[in-house]
Amino acid sequence: MKKLCVLGWLALSMAWPVMTAAAPAALDDRTAFIDGLLQRMTLQEKIGQLRLISIGEDMPVPRLAGELAAGNIGGTFNSVTRHDNRPLQEAALRSRLQIPIFFAYDVIHGHRTIFPIGLGLASSWDMETVATAGRVSAIEASADGLDMTFAPMVDITRDPRWGRTSEGFGEDPFLVSEIARTMIRAYQGQSLREPDSLMASVKHFALYGAVEGGRDYNVVDMSPQRMHQDYLPPYRAAVEAGAGGVMVALNTVNGVPASANRWLLQDLLREDWGFSGVTISDHGAITELLRHGVAVDGREAAKLAITAGLDMSMADSLYAEHLPELVESGEVPLESIDQSVRQVLGAKYDLGLFHDPFLRIGTASGDPADVNAENRLHRDAAREVARQSLVLLENRNHTLPLRKAGTIALVGPLADSHIDMLGSWSAAGVAAQTVTLRQAMQEALGDHGRLLYARGANVTDDPAMVEYLNFLNWDNPEVVQDPRLAEEMIAEAVAAAEQADIIVAAVGESRGMSHESSSRTSLQIPASQQALLRALKATGKPLVLVLMNGRPLALGWVQANADAVLETWFSGTEGGHAIADVLFGDHNPSGKLPISFPRSVGQIPTYYNHLRLGRPFVEGKPGNYTSQYFEEPNGPLYPFGYGLSYTTFSLSPPRLSTEVLSRGDVLEVEVTLKNTGKRDGATVVQLYLHDVAASQVRPVKELKGFRKVWLKAGEERRVRFNIDEEQLKFFDAQLRHLAEAGRFEVQVGLDSRQVQAQRFELR
Ligand code: BGC
Repeated sequence: MKKLCVLGWLALSMAWPVMTAAAPAALDDRTAFIDGLLQRMTLQEKIGQLRLISIGEDMPVPRLAGELAAGNIGGTFNSVTRHDNRPLQEAALRSRLQIPIFFAYDVIHGHRTIFPIGLGLASSWDMETVATAGRVSAIEASADGLDMTFAPMVDITRDPRWGRTSEGFGEDPFLVSEIARTMIRAYQGQSLREPDSLMASVKHFALYGAVEGGRDYNVVDMSPQRMHQDYLPPYRAAVEAGAGGVMVALNTVNGVPASANRWLLQDLLREDWGFSGVTISDHGAITELLRHGVAVDGREAAKLAITAGLDMSMADSLYAEHLPELVESGEVPLESIDQSVRQVLGAKYDLGLFHDPFLRIGTASGDPADVNAENRLHRDAAREVARQSLVLLENRNHTLPLRKAGTIALVGPLADSHIDMLGSWSAAGVAAQTVTLRQAMQEALGDHGRLLYARGANVTDDPAMVEYLNFLNWDNPEVVQDPRLAEEMIAEAVAAAEQADIIVAAVGESRGMSHESSSRTSLQIPASQQALLRALKATGKPLVLVLMNGRPLALGWVQANADAVLETWFSGTEGGHAIADVLFGDHNPSGKLPISFPRSVGQIPTYYNHLRLGRPFVEGKPGNYTSQYFEEPNGPLYPFGYGLSYTTFSLSPPRLSTEVLSRGDVLEVEVTLKNTGKRDGATVVQLYLHDVAASQVRPVKELKGFRKVWLKAGEERRVRFNIDEEQLKFFDAQLRHLAEAGRFEVQVGLDSRQVQAQRFELR
């Protein structure tokens, strides 16, 4: 296998200036160049540019080459090697105007080297960490000849039943917006013309995370205030950070499918937000307009989508089939087509493809046979990012860190499952290259201690679920199901536990359980694993749980019975190492939850930034005639922003620089953070604001700032935040974004529940 240094190879590919025949003299003038090209294009060539084709799925490769050479395709996705992409680009350059295509892919949390899933990245609350994941992804994906990623996925999620919760960055508009900005910059780099940059198509615009009941593809119906206040900010942040593309959501938005929603795609996105890039449909979404029942046939669906402002159709034949006739009959103005073609050509121009169609493909002699996750620097980065993503939920009697000595029983169906380390949407990641917890613990222990391993249970024994999970894992033929009887597997695990000083159980969900179309009605750890945990508990040995899952789980039993609990999400190629680093104390955990963990499914939603009520919602067990459920205390089991460390921290009450803030001025909030324990460590200081009285009911608190701070044992530091009018604004009944004069509360804490408050007034 030929191995090349990715960065060195990229440098070579930069020296490859190719001028296409489509490139007239005006190549240095973007508008003139695109307009010049447009004038020379036939209607068929224009419509070709609006088609994004899924390799293999939409058409067989032999036909593809012919279609490319005929100028009938604008871009493709799902081919991920330079070797595969080169002939496709060559075919495109044989077309009359020699317009290059672009290559896209779902690079969501890593490409070859897989990083933690979105929820894990968000748990770092550290933008440098997030940026590392994005940058390495871009370097690896562009080295494979890719130009665009369908990411970041910034859908706000308040319902963990939704399987795609795993892909997003949690429930908070402020945190997710920060990550959206960071990811766009990391993917796109200094300039999209650089060979190691990747154009980002932020998704799914809009509101996909709010599907009713958390059931995938369900409707979204929402007040304009909630939309603007809580759900739209991350997409807007991505657009403002320069996202080159926007992927349009599959769902309806207040009765109109996003793919046919002129208000969404034109009034809001282009006019209000000034987006000037390309909009791309989700997979087959134009055809789905028929199923939504807003179009009677394919012809009407194509007309609705193009006139709404949907530039490119993904894996959908309706544009090709109907746009020619719709334009000829005058039902779709040619200007609508031209406008969309301009966006597609603009994206290619910005990606540098007119200057060099092989910018990211390079020369044939430079083709690496394989650049899988073998780059040491990338793997080190993945290990460090994964460490930052781990959240310590419980640690009774200092159970953790473990000693590298004695006998440890490692049990559970996720302890040695390579494929599950990858998580959902693992792009070109290879299961066999991941480091499992079993491998990493064995490596860390060496000869200092004994590691006994037993699988203990299958992730689930529910036959329907098993069939679905196997279907998702089709290209990774790892054994998903152990054929032994459950009792036999549990007995083996208990026997190991009885010989050990401590039990580490890796349990939760398999990666396919938190995926597209994998919504759940329960947030419980599946029954097969619960039986295992109860049997382990009965041994009386200390029990450490390592959770792997792509959504908040209902952890009541776990909280009451485990001695320590580490939330690890799906932590990627180097996940096993990172988890072992934390378990053995080589790294002090500092992750914080980016989404609240309900006690049960019936409590959903449990998001922290809820509106105030007349009959109040009070955490814990309040009195009668308050807003509550009978069976459970109010509030989530683990709140947003929560996470422990092996050290302890104290935080002073906030000190404000003034009690009265005038518009245009800045108020400074200062707190003193102290590491009061015996180990160095990090935590996240979180700043929340609350509008005490306003013309609209306002949330009890909203995150408006955070800072991750590393302190040596005993060290203390002052942490400052600035507040100005901007952070006090909200959308009023007329959707004006403004700050109303009056009292506000500053709340500062190390999670969203335990805060200390001070008030000030805006005048
Ligand atoms: C998903 C998108 C994804 C696309 C292409 C769709 O099913 O909803 O998020 O980018 O497929 O793979």
